[in-house]
Amino acid sequence: MVDVTKVPQITLNTGDKVPCIGLGTFGSDRFDADEVSNAVEGAIRAGYRMIDCAACYGNEKEIGAVIKKVLDDKVCERKDLYIMTKVWNDMHRKVEESCKKSIADLKCDYIDLFFIHWPFPNYHAPHCDVTSRNPDSKPFSVAEFMDTYRQCEAMVKKGLIRHIGISNMTIPKMKQVIDQFEIKPVACEIELHPCMQQQELFDYLVEHDIQPVGYMPMGSPMRPERDMEPDDIADLQLPEMKKIAEAHGVHPAIIALKWAIQRGQIPIPFSIHNYEANLACTMTEPLTDEEMAVIKTLEKNNRLVKGQVFLWPGANDWHDLWDEDGVITDCPDAK
Ligand SMILES: NC(=O)c1ccc[n+]([C@@H]2O[C@H](COP(=O)([O-])OP(=O)(O)OC[C@H]3O[C@@H](n4cnc5c(N)ncnc54)[C@H](OP(=O)(O)O)[C@@H]3O)[C@@H](O)[C@H]2O)c1
Repeated sequence: MVDVTKVPQITLNTGDKVPCIGLGTFGSDRFDADEVSNAVEGAIRAGYRMIDCAACYGNEKEIGAVIKKVLDDKVCERKDLYIMTKVWNDMHRKVEESCKKSIADLKCDYIDLFFIHWPFPNYHAPHCDVTSRNPDSKPFSVAEFMDTYRQCEAMVKKGLIRHIGISNMTIPKMKQVIDQFEIKPVACEIELHPCMQQQELFDYLVEHDIQPVGYMPMGSPMRPERDMEPDDIADLQLPEMKKIAEAHGVHPAIIALKWAIQRGQIPIPFSIHNYEANLACTMTEPLTDEEMAVIKTLEKNNRLVKGQVFLWPGANDWHDLWDEDGVITDCPDAK
């Protein structure tokens, strides 16, 4: 067990301080709800205080049971935990209902950080194949997104959630909505790992005082089959990562985490077996400037969550989801 008081903290734009690392809870279609919730219990007992959940991960009830258990056992108090969850795409018009269900399932009275998981309401069935398409899917709409966001703002006012987050955004989408927030988002959760650094988006968020939260910090070696493509690069297998890991006597996963934290994002690694080492590494020898510089060169725009299943009729391919040419594809109401 680590000394929780020594885990480095990050200050959000509200002034709240949160840990520099959280625990991911997406079982990647490989780990069932009990395996994931066991890891959450072990992680909280080991000193984690930030947990990244989502309604669509299908395990909030089981995670709620262990949250209750650790609170009953007085491992920590509710106020010490920073519980994050997300509204899934089929609930964008019923955000409060989704939030109340997560609160009930997670047994946590309120949510600390509530994310809009994807910026469009495009639903796909769990475990669906990568070629699956929903004919009701639509491109991003500013008005629809802001309607969902306003529902989140209303929940802050009601005390159901403390902070709002956005996820899977792009700079063109951010530019459309940045001036419209009444309550500013505290964080944006995006894919961030050594081969997917999203430097421009990262800088944009930092410039606007929105904390980047990095998902798939290890390059998600156990991600679902549907997110695996032959050209994907395995971050942790790169010789540069292995060399730096050897120099520190650790697994390359630890180097990916150290890099993430030193760069300034909050990584949320999933782990069944290594969560304690991942937390502990936030307090050991940092990477050198040279090592940070080497990892900077590993950027390869290696997007692993391409999001094919969210494409709408008429869209070309998954690149349309990420506004790569600076324009929001097919957006009906961009200014
Ligand atoms: N907002 C979004 O749209 C979105 C999308 C994807 C993911 N997420 C969030 O991000 C979280 C993390 O992403 P992810 O789970 O896909 O991938 P990840 O955290 O990059 O990778 C997890 C894998 O890395 C291994 N690992 C972790 N620590 C290790 C260590 N020290 N040494 C060796 N292996 C290690 C784990 O194995 P062990 O279990 O054996 O340790 C696990 O198989 C998710 O769980 C979810 O909460 C959010």
